Amino acid sequence: MDGLSRRRVLLTGGTLGAFGALSMASPAHARSLWTWAPSGSVAGKGAGLDPDWVWDEEVDRLVAAVIDRGDVPRVNELLRQWTRNDQPLPTALPADLREYMERARQLPAWADRAKLEVAAEFNKSRGLYLNLLNGVGGGMLSTAIPREARSVYYSKGGADMEDRVAKTSMLGFAVGDLNAFRPDGDVIVQAVKTRLVHAAVRHLLPQSPAWARTSGGQTVPISQADMLVTWHSLPTYAMRKMLEWKVPITSTEAEGYLHVWQVTAHMLGIRDEYIPATWDEADAQSKQVLDPVLGPTPEGVELTDILLGQLAEQTSPGGIDRPLVNALGRYLVGDQVADWDGIPEEPFWEKAIATAWPKLVAFREKLIPLPLVPPLAWTIDEAARKYILFYLTKGQGTEISIPETNRPG
Ligand code: HEM
Repeated sequence: MDGLSRRRVLLTGGTLGAFGALSMASPAHARSLWTWAPSGSVAGKGAGLDPDWVWDEEVDRLVAAVIDRGDVPRVNELLRQWTRNDQPLPTALPADLREYMERARQLPAWADRAKLEVAAEFNKSRGLYLNLLNGVGGGMLSTAIPREARSVYYSKGGADMEDRVAKTSMLGFAVGDLNAFRPDGDVIVQAVKTRLVHAAVRHLLPQSPAWARTSGGQTVPISQADMLVTWHSLPTYAMRKMLEWKVPITSTEAEGYLHVWQVTAHMLGIRDEYIPATWDEADAQSKQVLDPVLGPTPEGVELTDILLGQLAEQTSPGGIDRPLVNALGRYLVGDQVADWDGIPEEPFWEKAIATAWPKLVAFREKLIPLPLVPPLAWTIDEAARKYILFYLTKGQGTEISIPETNRPG
């Protein structure tokens, strides 16, 4: 699979509730002071700079040069041939870019193969939840991250939102792959390519008048802080939901799952001094960077509607099941984010899911016998599986390629 993608978040009730539903019309500036200490990171130390003012300097410069000299089509053609973790880089890549990628593809010294294997097994045994959370839930959370929604909307991919939205969330699936970091896997490849794409976006979006109008004063998108926000919308959110769902998780599994995402963060260009070393540190950082920035945008609402429309079409031709799709979406991201995303309330299905899903989880985890699972639960289970299948199918054959323009028009 050569597709993948990104992002998301959550935050139900709790901290978010304090802000009150739609009252935070434009939370793009609502960042809190950076106080998270680098001592809590995988590096254990660091300068402690506010990550909102840090980007990815070296690759940003290299990719900007590739775009400016008109080399994007040639480079993309070569990147297409690079698909496996253990494969040499195409020799015809521009020398400076190739040399950079050679370094960028190396796993960090702290990567632990044994933990990655635990994560692979965990991803397999808890695949349904993880795919639903990292894949589908993530897509709907990302649209409530104003900076992310807007950068996606105004970048090249925004022009084909069907494709754009479908690609969204594929990274979660790729990381969950059993082979993810093995020689025959592809997460290293996808992460390095994504790093190049993000560098291109940093060069291109500032040239978009529509983006500049809505960027809330940010002059270059996708800062390290933005990366962290999105990162928390993946593992931190998924872990929180699984605990909420009472999925039994051993401490070895929890550590392995965190580790695979720490390594992924590094490969995507997040500096080690910002990558949380433990779940406690991750939760603390998430509260600081993610909770305060979530909110509604017209772009996010539009993207969510397209996504839910696609899912409804998929789960039932003719779209009769859109209410179930809406309710599942609301269940995954919570009422607050769902309202920001403009997902309609569906009282019947919401109640059904709230009752049935915990039972389904308990049954799957062998905690309760089958007769205790209400029959309606299987309709919901089936819808969840179709969601996931939809994403997996859509993601297949998609290519991560460097954009050379913004969204036209
Ligand atoms: C592209 C993943 C953070 C904005 C991509 C792609 C992936 C990805 C896999 C390439 C495939 C595609 O086009 O969909 C991730 C992950 C992130 C992250 C895993 C963090 C853990 C962010 C953030 C932003 C962002 C924070 C903006 C605030 C974009 C944009 C594109 C992109 C605009 C290019 C769309 C285009 O081709 O026009 N991301 N991303 N990403 N990402 Fe990210």
